[in-house]
Amino acid sequence: MTTVRDIRERSEDGAKPVTVLTAYDATMASILEAAGVDVVLVGDSAGNTALGYDSTLPVTYEEIKSRSAAVARAIDDALVVADMPFLSVGVDEAESVRNCGRLLKEAGVDAVKLESGEHTVGLTERLVELGVPVMAHVGLTPQRVKELGYQKQGTAEAEAEDIVELARRHEAAGAFSIVLEHVPASLAERITAELDIPTIGIGAGPDCDGQVLVIDDVLGLSERSPPFARRFASIRDEIEGAAEAYCAAVEDGSFPAPPDDAE
Ligand code: KIV
Repeated sequence: MTTVRDIRERSEDGAKPVTVLTAYDATMASILEAAGVDVVLVGDSAGNTALGYDSTLPVTYEEIKSRSAAVARAIDDALVVADMPFLSVGVDEAESVRNCGRLLKEAGVDAVKLESGEHTVGLTERLVELGVPVMAHVGLTPQRVKELGYQKQGTAEAEAEDIVELARRHEAAGAFSIVLEHVPASLAERITAELDIPTIGIGAGPDCDGQVLVIDDVLGLSERSPPFARRFASIRDEIEGAAEAYCAAVEDGSFPAPPDDAE
């Protein structure tokens, strides 16, 4: 069983990089676990992928909870992290703490991820105090799409300093790791050197302590992917081919096979 302590130790020099991929259902989670992925993230990217929304904003707490429970049921060893959807934290502290805690208690995840800002520093401290491990997330935070768009963050000096400061404050608040999304590689390298907790990069260059990608981008299931993603397979084409072959076999009568009356 992987614990947050195991992941935390992976920021040490010479440690193996932390591998993180998203999953939104039990089938995918069991495949990722068999492949040896360290952390399975039930990302709110489910909004853009499995749920068919055009951003992560409409994703509900119940959608993440149900998908997190499915993923957690399929995993024995990897660490399962649930992403807190837009407005499920931050409106009110008691409600935020309860929403995060219920994902451990009722869905069986190991930790939560919060898209981080000023409002999550105190919340992170409180959650960690109560035994709810927190993964922080700075740089591009897609729940702020209306304010930031999807552009690279931290390209101007003042903005970069704000990101460094936010990362430091979340480490001090007790986060066990931190996602750095779509920031300059030099900034990610600096944050990785300054923090003791592992940095998990996505569009943040090669110097982080680990990397995360959205599974649909990795498998070639997505119709559009961000510029920093890499496709490691073309599963969309494979599925389309298999579905076409199935339709053709049904239509030409070659499937199902005739019954074997001798049996
Ligand atoms: O929702 C998600 O999948 C994420 C990762 C891309 C870090 O937040």
